[in-house]
Amino acid sequence: MVKLAPSILSADFGLLAEEVSAAEEAGADWIHVDVMDGHFVPNITIGPVVTEVVRRATSLPVDVHLMIEQPERYLDAFAGAGASVLTVHQETCPNLSRTMERIRELGVTPGVSVNPATPVEMLHEITPFADLVLVMSVNPGFGGQRYIPATTDKLRRARHHLDERGRVGAELQVDGGIDVLTGPQAVEAGASCLVAGSAVFGHPDGVAAGVKALRDAIDAQPPAPVHRS
Ligand code: DX5
Ligand code: ZN
Repeated sequence: MVKLAPSILSADFGLLAEEVSAAEEAGADWIHVDVMDGHFVPNITIGPVVTEVVRRATSLPVDVHLMIEQPERYLDAFAGAGASVLTVHQETCPNLSRTMERIRELGVTPGVSVNPATPVEMLHEITPFADLVLVMSVNPGFGGQRYIPATTDKLRRARHHLDERGRVGAELQVDGGIDVLTGPQAVEAGASCLVAGSAVFGHPDGVAAGVKALRDAIDAQPPAPVHRS
């Protein structure tokens, strides 16, 4: 089943624990935490301290997306804060396999992401070491941006590659501009985990309605077939 990972970036930070609980009760699978450093991306958000608050507020896996330079310096801190998944950007890591290895040593699921301008083929050598591939469908930095249509083809190519390499179980995540229209397109192309911020926490009828609307839209879309070479 396709996973839904609401991004707390669009939540009310004054009510963070309640917002996280509401997403869990509504049927979210993971809670997505966007970490930004004002260097790799223009925005600055949160760090390990707030990640720990999220960890305490839910029993779901905490999916931490590190949009920061030199993420190796902070892996221990985020693992200590309770991250279940740690995703770094290909653009920030000159020694990606070492970074993946270190995340795994910390007992955390290693993920790797590419920005819209980075071909997903840049990950071909690292897929044996990563358990999650995140294809960004917006230029990272802010919630509420529009899904870049070329992402759909990138997802298809990524899924094909993962399946051919025997990484059928590797998670293919998409993040940015996911709603009831773009979510099903991403699933059809092979995405197995959808990150959604404004579509969930910004839904006019509340978090539960946001999760349900996305879930219904995805369930109406059969998942992509597995490619075998
Ligand atoms: C973008 C972040 C996303 C963001 C998604 O830089 O990585 O996780 O919160 O927000 P929406 O779903 O509103 O595009
Ligand atoms: Zn994210």
